[in-house]
Amino acid sequence: MNTQLIYLKTDHISENKLLKAVKILQEDHCVAIPTETVYGLAANALSELAIKRIFEAKGRPSDNPLIVHVSNMDMLKRCIQQDLSIRITAIIDAFWPGPLTLVFKKSELIPEVVSAHLDTVGIRWPAHPIALALIEASGFPLAAPSANVSGRPSPTKAEHVLHDLNGKIAGIIMAEQSVVGVESTVLDVSSDDFRILRKGGVSLESLQQIDPSITYDDALAHPELTPKSPGQKYKHYAPSKPMLALSGNIESLVSHLKTMNLEHILLISVDEILNQLNAPYHLSLGSLHDHEVAMNRLFDCLRESETIPVDSIIITGFDDAGLGATLNDRIGKASSQKLTII
Ligand code: TXA
Ligand code: MG
Repeated sequence: MNTQLIYLKTDHISENKLLKAVKILQEDHCVAIPTETVYGLAANALSELAIKRIFEAKGRPSDNPLIVHVSNMDMLKRCIQQDLSIRITAIIDAFWPGPLTLVFKKSELIPEVVSAHLDTVGIRWPAHPIALALIEASGFPLAAPSANVSGRPSPTKAEHVLHDLNGKIAGIIMAEQSVVGVESTVLDVSSDDFRILRKGGVSLESLQQIDPSITYDDALAHPELTPKSPGQKYKHYAPSKPMLALSGNIESLVSHLKTMNLEHILLISVDEILNQLNAPYHLSLGSLHDHEVAMNRLFDCLRESETIPVDSIIITGFDDAGLGATLNDRIGKASSQKLTII
């Protein structure tokens, strides 16, 4: 398949080029689109044929449901069969548009293939001007998983999408790097027990400021339980070389790393650690205290690690508070081994 590359700038969206992408979507084909979290592989959420093409292009297991992206409240209401309670409205007002997916009871409008035969659907109102303009111009909601081949890190740059999906999809919108850099937080609001099913761009603590009853789903803390979010059970983001995740405080991590021969190892870490070592191969996640910068860089670092001539990778973790929990989740899913240094 010939993949059309459509170059768009977020602060100046060319109408002409936007309509090229809309045309592809209206013909039930897939287009990779920028969002503020990661690039998504978008198609008409109301067309079974279009959805089938998403699953095929990604090599995605069919039991893993897709997130549906909307651009206004009317569109949301048509996709769900559930009243918007005061609790839900407070969350929407605080976090939409933005990196939060809400799981609702689904309406008949949403095909079973989108929700992988669950009776719920994950919906997100993204904060990216190009994504919003596309939904508005197409006139239908867009189903969009992350635009990577299944198992690879989610794409935060258009070039990542090109690497994974060139020749497999009808179009790629070539825009800027995603600002958030990790996927949305998935929050189940389909029953009265609001539970986080996937950690992401919005932290537990900031959700609790709006609704103190929100907690993580048990399966996030206990891997032996079946997760309610089917995507959580798959291995993710793993580089092809073995990657060891180290956790601990700065002093113990630095002392441990100083005892190691780092000659053939890539160290992905924060400046506070890298500055105290002489690691010949390293990539920086920024400062230990700036979770946002680390999220923005993490997936790009994992992809870049593939191009560096080393035998293995060591990556260091973060404090679990706030968005540190999301970083540790993604680091844990990508690594083949974990070690805590005390
Ligand atoms: O930030 C994001 O969420 C990106 C951008 C493109 O919006 N999308 C994304 O989609 O990460 P995907 O398909 O890679 O991950 C969706 C996650 C999966 O873990 C899936 O199992 C879960 O959301 N999910 C979707 N619908 C669900 C539902 N009805 N119930 C439980 N989990 C659901
Ligand atoms: Mg994904």
